[in-house]
Amino acid sequence: MNKALRKAVIAGNWKMNKTRPEAKALIGELAPLVKGAGCDVVICVPYTNLETALEATRGTDIKVGAENCHWAPSGAFTGEISAEMLAELGVEYVIVGHSERRQYFGETDETVNKRTRAALDAGLKVILCVGELLHQREAGITEEVVGLQTKIALAGMTKEDLKNIIIAYEPVWAIGTGKTATAAQANEVNHYIRTVVQKLYDKAAADAMTIQYGGSMNAANADELTAQPDVDGGLIGGASLKAADFAAIVKAAGR
Ligand code: PGA
Repeated sequence: MNKALRKAVIAGNWKMNKTRPEAKALIGELAPLVKGAGCDVVICVPYTNLETALEATRGTDIKVGAENCHWAPSGAFTGEISAEMLAELGVEYVIVGHSERRQYFGETDETVNKRTRAALDAGLKVILCVGELLHQREAGITEEVVGLQTKIALAGMTKEDLKNIIIAYEPVWAIGTGKTATAAQANEVNHYIRTVVQKLYDKAAADAMTIQYGGSMNAANADELTAQPDVDGGLIGGASLKAADFAAIVKAAGR
């Protein structure tokens, strides 16, 4: 598996943080720090910050994403936002299947699959999250869990679709806990996901797939994590809210 065959992507996941003025200030601070980055840089922000982020990132190397989307193009789904609405705004990326959506908002592998389909159909790039819970890791079923999540999420996706999908491996026990997976653990599961993709499609598709790690990645551990052969950047929560920290991670991944 050759790392040079694919792109590293560092994506920030702001979660439910930042008002519009705060968003504008953070992007203003971040943009000069990631200019000419050696990897792709994305910030996924709350819906209310999308227009502000699109405006503030114009002419910079930062791309904008949302944190979720619904699978229907429109309809009676109070409180939801469709992929088409995001695409129409000029948004390029969307996170689908984040563990917090699975844990608190009833997201299932099937709805992850539907949202992924809708996002791709609307022309968005998808950051598709998978990851095991602590008790699943302890029970030794990480590969089964992550493999199943990946297979169901990708059901019906063509090889062409894969070009617009990034997989983010995020062990749930490492998210927001300060408890990072070791570089070896991250690489092991990322490699496993790549073999799942290879079995579903082929080696070329697996080689070309960007597979990120996420879960307490920060300025101090990004070098080691992103240097792993199967870790193609990261999905960053807490550390994406501080310009200097996020920029340091971007720098590490761009080496
Ligand atoms: P964290 O979040 O970096 O704060 O652990 C990662 C994520 O939830 O995507």
